[in-house]
Amino acid sequence: MSGLGLAIDTTFDDTSVALLRGKHQVLANLTLSQIAQHAEFGGIVPERASRKHLEAIHPLLEHALHQAQVRLDQVDYVAVSNLPGLLGSILVGMTVAKSLAYALKRPLIGVNHIEAHPYANFLVHGDLPLPLVHLVAAGGHTLLLLQERHLEFRIIGRSVDDAAGECVDKVAKMFGHPFPGGPVVDRLALEHAPGPYAFPRPMLHDGGLDFSFSGLKTAMLYFLREHQGRLPPEGPVLSAFFEAVLDVLVSKTLRAAKRHGVAGVALSGGLAASRKLQGRFAAECGAAGLACHVPPPALCTDNAAMVACLAAYRHEAGLHDGLDLEAYPNLPA
Ligand code: KG4
Ligand code: ZN
Repeated sequence: MSGLGLAIDTTFDDTSVALLRGKHQVLANLTLSQIAQHAEFGGIVPERASRKHLEAIHPLLEHALHQAQVRLDQVDYVAVSNLPGLLGSILVGMTVAKSLAYALKRPLIGVNHIEAHPYANFLVHGDLPLPLVHLVAAGGHTLLLLQERHLEFRIIGRSVDDAAGECVDKVAKMFGHPFPGGPVVDRLALEHAPGPYAFPRPMLHDGGLDFSFSGLKTAMLYFLREHQGRLPPEGPVLSAFFEAVLDVLVSKTLRAAKRHGVAGVALSGGLAASRKLQGRFAAECGAAGLACHVPPPALCTDNAAMVACLAAYRHEAGLHDGLDLEAYPNLPA
C-alpha cells in the first residue's frame, strides 16, 4: 500500500500541491498559475517566478490539506520535483518538501518532472499494460520515452533544439498572442482549415526518432517577413503551421511504437491538452491498431498529482531519497 502522499511541483511557472491516497485517489490537486504575474514581460521571468512560488506555496499547502480533509501528520511521504526547470523555482518547492520531510520524520522522494508527466496516465487510467511509448510534449521538452517497467524510462527520441511547445508558444507570440500560445493555436486549428502554405516538417523523413522544431519557427519568421503589410488571416496560417507540428509528432510517435513493438502509446505534457492533437492521434493510432492514452487536460499541463502518482510507485518500492537531494535545471544528457 502506498499510503498518503504529499507532492509539490514548482519547476516552472505553476505552483502546485497535491495529496494522493494510494496511486489513484486524488484528494487535492491545486495549481496556481503565475501567467498573469509575468504577462507584462511577454514570458516567464525566473527571479519573479521564485518569489511568486515562495508567496504561494504555504497558503496553497494549507488549502490542499483542508480540501483533502487530512492533517500533515497523516502524510506518509513527501514528494517534490527536483528536475528539470528553473533552478530558483525548483529550490522553493524542495526547501518546503525537505523541511516537511524532516519535521514530520517522513521519507522524501525526488521526482523527475518529465517522468512525472507520463504518470498522469497511470493516475487516471490505472495500471496500463507495458511496454508503452510515451510522447511527452511539455513546454520545454519534446521526448519519446520507451517504458518497459514502472519507474524505468529510456529516451528513444528527443528534440535536438526547441521543443514543440516552445515553438508553438514562440510562433503564437509572433502573431501577438500572450504566453502560453498553445491554447489559442489549438483553437484556431480547430476552427480553420489549413491554408495553402508550405511549412517544413523538420526531420520527418530521416528515419529517426529525434525532433527539431527551430527551423519551423524560423520558417514562420520568414513567412511573416515575406507577407509584411499583406498578411493573410491568421487562422489558416496558424492551422497550417500546427498541422506541420502535428505531422511530425504523430508520425515519429507511430514510428517509435512500430520500431519497439508496443501495443499502445500515451500522450502527456501541456501540448497533449490540445484537442486537435488528440483528434489526430486518436484517428491515426486507431488506423494503426494502437491504443492511445491521454489524461484529461488539467493533468496534461503541470500539476503535482502526476508527481504524487510517480512517487507512490517509488514509495511502494521503498525508493526514497536523503535530505541531501539536489536540484538540477536540466535533464541528464
Ligand atoms: O507541460 P506544461 O504545462 O509545462 C511544462 O512542463 O513545460 O506545457 C506547457 C506547454 C506550452 O507550450 C503551452 O502552450 C502548451 O503546453 N499548452 C497547450 C494547451 N495547454 C497548454 N497547447 C495546446 N493546447 C492546449 N490546450
Ligand atoms: Zn511540465
